[in-house]
Amino acid sequence: MDYKNLIHKIKSVRDYKETKVSEDILYEIKHSYEKGKKLVHDIEIEVFIKNKEEIYEQLEGIAGYKENMIEAPHYIVILSEEKKDYIENTGYIGQGLMLKALELGVNTCWITFNDGNEIMEKLMMDSEKKLTALIALGYDDNKTKAVNETNLDYNPSKANVVIAEDNVSTRIDVSQLVFIKEWGKCADTDDLSSRGLLDAFNYARLAPSTLNRQPWRFILDDGVVVLAIRKDDNVNKYENKIDTGIVMLYFESIIDSTLFDTSWTMGNIGKDYNIPDEYMVVGYCNI
Ligand SMILES: Cc1cc2nc3c(=O)[nH]c(=O)nc-3n(C[C@H](O)[C@H](O)[C@H](O)COP(=O)(O)O)c2cc1C
Repeated sequence: MDYKNLIHKIKSVRDYKETKVSEDILYEIKHSYEKGKKLVHDIEIEVFIKNKEEIYEQLEGIAGYKENMIEAPHYIVILSEEKKDYIENTGYIGQGLMLKALELGVNTCWITFNDGNEIMEKLMMDSEKKLTALIALGYDDNKTKAVNETNLDYNPSKANVVIAEDNVSTRIDVSQLVFIKEWGKCADTDDLSSRGLLDAFNYARLAPSTLNRQPWRFILDDGVVVLAIRKDDNVNKYENKIDTGIVMLYFESIIDSTLFDTSWTMGNIGKDYNIPDEYMVVGYCNI
């Protein structure tokens, strides 16, 4: 997969043509995770692709920002074994499926929810596994709609979604995203470039996140990159963990394609970087 090109191009699509995606393409998207990257290797997941008739009306008023369900011809549903870091693993795998879909010309958008068990009941899905992702899938109807507020008081009801002229949601600058050895010591982009890491951080900041809140910060220490995520009051634990898995995929895939293979270790590295209370360390990887 050409990660750089796809990460650069992908955006959340909220209005879809009615046109259905062909069975062949749906099959390719669904099965791509089997060969694709995983964050945690021993977690069993199941990927389903469902049609609008099986999902949309059932979840109207239940899933989506402020319960505004996104209408699409298809949806990806992921069920996962409930094990340590299983939601982050779904974020990582789900975003991989979304990049694969875009490679095949198909657009997507994450759809949030509060209670996966309620969604399973509404969809009459019965499994020991947990429902961990709901993703709209189809062809972009090209109506510009991007959430473009980093203001966390922002109320993203569908009617209020901020229309961005170029339909590209904004992102913070790399210098605000990466600290050197200690919280608050902002990285210099020339320094990151000479270490060969500028690309990976530049692509990581393009990661989609709940409400486009961009909760990720990195600390670059000797031979290690530490990831901290902000805990925002208006974002639930599920959303926080999906956001974590997505940025891990973005950073890792660019390091893998530009430098060498690396992987994330989940959890705290056990070193004090003066991280403020609203952030928590969620993982680190060797670079
Ligand atoms: C975990 C998660 C849940 C999301 N849920 C919704 C949602 O329910 N409705 C919606 O319109 N967008 C949703 N989004 C999309 C984000 O708002 C979007 O990724 C962000 O605004 C950045 O825009 P972009 O993806 O176009 O770059 C979600 C994104 C993530 C990562």
